[in-house]
Amino acid sequence: MTTTMQRAEAAEHAMSEELDRIVVKSVLYTSGERDPRVPVPRPPDQGKLYLMRHDPRLPKMPDKPTLFDFFRYRFGPSAHMLQSARLAQKNGTSEKVVLACLLHDIAIAGFIRSDHGYWSAQLLEPYVDEEVSWAIRYHQTLRFFADESVGYKYPEMYVKLFGADYQPEPHIQAAYRYARDHKWYMTSRLITVNDLYSFDPSVKVELEEFENVVGRNFKQPKEGLGFDAGPSAHMWRTINWPTRYL
Ligand SMILES: [Fe+2]
Ligand SMILES: [Fe+2]
Repeated sequence: MTTTMQRAEAAEHAMSEELDRIVVKSVLYTSGERDPRVPVPRPPDQGKLYLMRHDPRLPKMPDKPTLFDFFRYRFGPSAHMLQSARLAQKNGTSEKVVLACLLHDIAIAGFIRSDHGYWSAQLLEPYVDEEVSWAIRYHQTLRFFADESVGYKYPEMYVKLFGADYQPEPHIQAAYRYARDHKWYMTSRLITVNDLYSFDPSVKVELEEFENVVGRNFKQPKEGLGFDAGPSAHMWRTINWPTRYL
């Protein structure tokens, strides 16, 4: 039987061995903190190799990772999405809406924050109903626009975050006009209605609560997310191995 201590030692050994590899960050990870136009200063290699696989500083993912594995091993706290999904369920929305709420901010949780609705949708598109990914793509835009018919107001939180004078840019206005007239508008709108800003830290929602919803509505590839050659598989691979040299 492997003890916790032995496991920790093994992990440490793996780390010291692996960190003999040189780890380089993508430009996007540091852009702003440093000027992306300036070449990255590189110390001499000293015969070291560059990291081309798993980053030993991260928990190792299974060889055939599932959506939930990404929640467990790569995403930041997902209480916001879990509580939004539970609220959607409580409000009696369809399973599609519950799933959309559960996944609507995955780009913020584990990939890229800016334009997160689009990134989230793109990650998910090959694996969910088109209506679900469409709704996730446009929830980002619809958040900025009130809809009195469902009691959705411009979020107080946005005034705090972006200032009272923030005006959505023209491309967001255009996306709003497009989404407003679309047949799936209400699916996306329902994400915003159930999108909780101030979730309750005392309420614990487990991923397992949505196992059946995900099982019925998410086409988990048998090769594992990232290894299925789908159009967004490379994005999942990058989340799995964010520091590969190439
Ligand atoms: Fe969002
Ligand atoms: Fe959200």
